[in-house]
Amino acid sequence: MKRLFISLATMAIFLLFFVSCYYDNEEALYPTFSNACDTTNVTFSGTIAPILSNNCYSCHSNANSSFGAGIRLQVIADVITNSSKIVVSIKHTGSFPMPPGGTLSSCSITQFDIWIRNGMPNN
Ligand code: HEC
Repeated sequence: MKRLFISLATMAIFLLFFVSCYYDNEEALYPTFSNACDTTNVTFSGTIAPILSNNCYSCHSNANSSFGAGIRLQVIADVITNSSKIVVSIKHTGSFPMPPGGTLSSCSITQFDIWIRNGMPNN
């Protein structure tokens, strides 16, 4: 009787061990949930300015443009003026790959393309 109890208890502990430890990975279960590239709500203020701010303003803000050959990418008018150069730079297809020593995510590059295709709206 004691043996039976011990083996049952052992089995129960084993079962608990395997059944209770079930790890869900949200990204694996819902890949579009957290990793999606938002290609529908691309705006200047919500998408483009943050990309430039995070990756480019250390050299291309109005205050820091001396580090970026005088090219300013803080005000939308300046971004529009430089847009074709920006595309070449962030796609690394010209002489000045940007940001230096890195690349934007493919999502950011796609979003920049979309913003240009939409007519570079100030939204
Ligand atoms: C560490 C400083 C630095 C950062 C960060 C940086 N740049 Fe530059 N950028 C430069 C410098 C310096 C030049 C002048 C060209 C050269 O000497 O490489 C330049 C030139 C450019 C040009 C002009 C290229 C041409 O064809 O004349 C564009 C457009 C540009 N950068 C866009 C960007 C964008 C967009 C980002 C962010 C994704 C960025 N840069 C991040 C330093 C920087």
